[in-house]
Amino acid sequence: MDLGKLRAEFLICLPAKNMTWSKDIKFESMQQDVVAATIRNEILQKKPLPNSYIMNFMKVFMSKIEEFGGEISEVTFEAYGDILTKPVSEITYKHYDVKGVSISLQENNTLIAEGTTGLKTWQASQRMAEYLVDDCSLLKDKHVLELGAGLGLLGLTVCSLCNCGSYLLSDHHSSVLHKLQRNIAENSNNLLCIPSVVDIDWEEVSQNGFTNSLKEKIQCVDVVLAADVVYDVKIIQPLVQTLLLIIEIMKEEGKIFVASTIRNEATYESFLKELDEHGLVSNEVTKQSPQLFIYDKTANITILDITLRK
Ligand SMILES: C[S@@+](CC[C@H](N)C(=O)[O-])C[C@H]1O[C@@H](n2cnc3c(N)ncnc32)[C@H](O)[C@@H]1O
Repeated sequence: MDLGKLRAEFLICLPAKNMTWSKDIKFESMQQDVVAATIRNEILQKKPLPNSYIMNFMKVFMSKIEEFGGEISEVTFEAYGDILTKPVSEITYKHYDVKGVSISLQENNTLIAEGTTGLKTWQASQRMAEYLVDDCSLLKDKHVLELGAGLGLLGLTVCSLCNCGSYLLSDHHSSVLHKLQRNIAENSNNLLCIPSVVDIDWEEVSQNGFTNSLKEKIQCVDVVLAADVVYDVKIIQPLVQTLLLIIEIMKEEGKIFVASTIRNEATYESFLKELDEHGLVSNEVTKQSPQLFIYDKTANITILDITLRK
């Protein structure tokens, strides 16, 4: 059994039914190793995973042991018993391991919570992070602004592995902004550059433009990043309008990258059309980069390099 892989999948709350279980778990010693790598993992003492996830993990683990003709060992039973009696933690985490750096995020395990998609990490941000950290020269000493940053995995990965000049994480939802601040603080020991957080609402910007203080910040920006922000037709127009306003203010040689998971062709097409109608040219980044995170490899994810039409 690949215990390193199991540990990494467990720490990001991958559903246990999607894990590869080896028949070796019928042996007591292997059950001991699985328990040590997962629910007894030291990191969970301070930063727990959701109880509901661990319960489900244990149930699948035990049913697999029986399916493979083994007996549930005392160690496994004990671990299960501990979970049943453990108080439920209100604040829970996921732990991402990237190039040996562990990034812990306060994160929900549901697609939408508190009316926002921002309390969960989406795979386009992981794909974008893989692209950027594969060649940090793109961001070395650069001033970066991220839109719709959610819980901050992209920014925190980049700030852990690349020497950016500065990194400004933005979002609009209040709970998202709060968790974003928490996540920066939780990971500050690993960061080469400490990001700051700012509230940027595309709808507000598209109607009233940027405030003077935001304009000042954007004037210094070299690179704008956004991941999984193209999912709702209603926000495409304000988003593109915001990108256009940023291009007008940011450094002339600045770059914009938007990563999207294409779930609905029509929504994505309307984003491309909106870019085009606003005089923005988009070119797909074709460079492949090694997969560092665990997510569905078959997902249709694109990264666009967006510039102003000359
Ligand atoms: C699907 S989530 C992606 C989060 C993160 N980039 C990721 O990939 O994990 C979309 C994000 O866009 C933000 N968002 C939605 N509408 C927005 C708006 N009008 N202004 C600013 N951010 C917005 C949400 O709060 C959420 O964090």
